[in-house]
Amino acid sequence: MRIKLKVWRQAGPDQPGRLETHEVEDVNPDMSFLEMLDVLNEKLMLEGKEPIAFDHDCREGICGTCGVMIDGQAHGPNRNSPTCQLRMRSYKDGDTILAEPFRAKAFPVLKDLVVDRSSFDRLQQSGGYVSVNTGNAPDANAIPVPQKIAEHAMSNAACIGCGACVAACKNASAALFVGAKVSHLSFLPQGKGERHERVLNMVAKMDEEGFGACTNTSECQAACPAGISVQAIAKMNREYMAASLLAEE
Ligand code: SF4
Ligand code: FES
Repeated sequence: MRIKLKVWRQAGPDQPGRLETHEVEDVNPDMSFLEMLDVLNEKLMLEGKEPIAFDHDCREGICGTCGVMIDGQAHGPNRNSPTCQLRMRSYKDGDTILAEPFRAKAFPVLKDLVVDRSSFDRLQQSGGYVSVNTGNAPDANAIPVPQKIAEHAMSNAACIGCGACVAACKNASAALFVGAKVSHLSFLPQGKGERHERVLNMVAKMDEEGFGACTNTSECQAACPAGISVQAIAKMNREYMAASLLAEE
């Protein structure tokens, strides 16, 4: 099939950007969106032109690097699915697709579709970890965790750090990402010791990095490829409230 691609081109962070239009011929419906970009890039390189820069690594829905805004939706039209899992069979012959980078103050554009998501790394470093020694793999079974609690923790641990929640949010809020980290770790006995410090530091860091506040629109949940629920944000708010009250004593 034939696809018309309107794609954002930007030579560098301080350069002006523009939309460029390309016709991609012989697109196989089984190709992923990224493979379609590979085909276009090979053509561009054969013509001596600059290929389109885009982020990717695993192409298996695991690493979280492939986020692209497709027709105004983070990761494209399919629910709970990252860009690398979007197949061209989701489109019809002759369709026009608009591809842009994730847009947020905290995710500056580096080049074309590539954004700098190191603000997520700094958020993670501000408290999204457990610093006590939790032992080796066999020790994981030494502290029994009720099944329901383990399931809540694991559902939130599914976050792949892609940033679609930020890109989909009108406020560019990182509340779903931080909520997932806070929920995952504060549910588990190994993470409880640092839970207050964690939530206070991570919420402060969100503001410092330029992410907006959550206004409960739930676009983040709709865009999240890992299916993280907005209940994670409610959990983060409860954790924050408790930590703030205890910090005042
Ligand atoms: S919460 Fe979902 S959308 Fe946000 S970074 Fe994690 S996986 Fe991506
Ligand atoms: S390339 Fe790793 S999640 Fe898409």
